[in-house]
Amino acid sequence: MEPTRTFHIKPETSEERREFYGRLEKKNTTPLWESLARLFPAEPRPACVPVLWNYTDDLRPLLLEAGRLITAKEATRRVLVLENPGIRGTSQITQSLYAGIQMILPGEIAPTHRHTASAIRFVIEGAGAYTAVDGERTTMQPGDFILTPSWTFHDHGNPSDQPCMWIDGLDFPIVNMLDTAFAESYPEELQPVTKNEGDALLRYGANMLPIDYSPQRHSSPIFNYPYSRAREALDGLHRNGPVHPCHGIKLQYVDPSTGGYPMAAIGAFMQLLPAGFIGAAYRSTDSTIYSVVEGRGRTRIGETVFNWKERDIFVVPSWYPVSHESQREAVLFSFSDRPAQKALGFWREQAPLV
Ligand SMILES: [Fe+2]
Repeated sequence: MEPTRTFHIKPETSEERREFYGRLEKKNTTPLWESLARLFPAEPRPACVPVLWNYTDDLRPLLLEAGRLITAKEATRRVLVLENPGIRGTSQITQSLYAGIQMILPGEIAPTHRHTASAIRFVIEGAGAYTAVDGERTTMQPGDFILTPSWTFHDHGNPSDQPCMWIDGLDFPIVNMLDTAFAESYPEELQPVTKNEGDALLRYGANMLPIDYSPQRHSSPIFNYPYSRAREALDGLHRNGPVHPCHGIKLQYVDPSTGGYPMAAIGAFMQLLPAGFIGAAYRSTDSTIYSVVEGRGRTRIGETVFNWKERDIFVVPSWYPVSHESQREAVLFSFSDRPAQKALGFWREQAPLV
């Protein structure tokens, strides 16, 4: 429902009021009526802006250059931070999330550590590097969605003969806002491998669970959701229909033991846009980061239009109307803080917009 009255109109200032405000400041107080409109906007006014990174032409050459300048070990994590131009200096891609592109060259390792912040990885180039979590290594293939949950020891390595690049997405802006950040290194560079590769997917990813399973943490027990499975599901659902007017065919990743989001603060999605798809406008309050897995197309975000192709990355800020078009069949991965917003009861969406 549209508001019928303006929420707050900032009062006129006068010499007497300004003098009063000056005395308030000296006592660590401020007049709320001067900042009320900024603190309680009628609808979201995100500081982050729509932005697109061209992977092939811009990011990839810079990553390779970084690879010549510093080793993964020296850097701890060799990552180019994707910093939103609306909030420069924050190391953030949106108000609540961080994202960067990490590269590991053949033979390199990124040493074992853990932290309060949860991370997702989305592989964009290279096959054969691994991520290890809690004693299990998983080989990373393009399009795989990988979790490193809060406070789990994790490391990365690349025994293959090609560079491997992936998106890191972390919720540390939320962790730091709450002043709940802890971090530590593992005593050794590499954690011991104690499980066979694929164990978690076999144990928790076959629409069954171990007979005595009970959740031990606020995240999915699966830590690699392979692209091959997601792609097969999207393909089949495209054949079956229907196609959503805004989203095409869109699925969300879940924790199979709860049916909920795979992590407490970060949700992730994969959608197929059929060839020639012209989507209706949609908006939601979770600022969202998109990674183009396949195809070419364009996306309108408010007044901004981005043409995109495979491996490009773009941001849709909170409450901006967004509509997608695809020239040929396209697949988009995306992630946002939707689980956190839903848990707090803040999340809203509106679709389709007319
Ligand atoms: Fe980490």
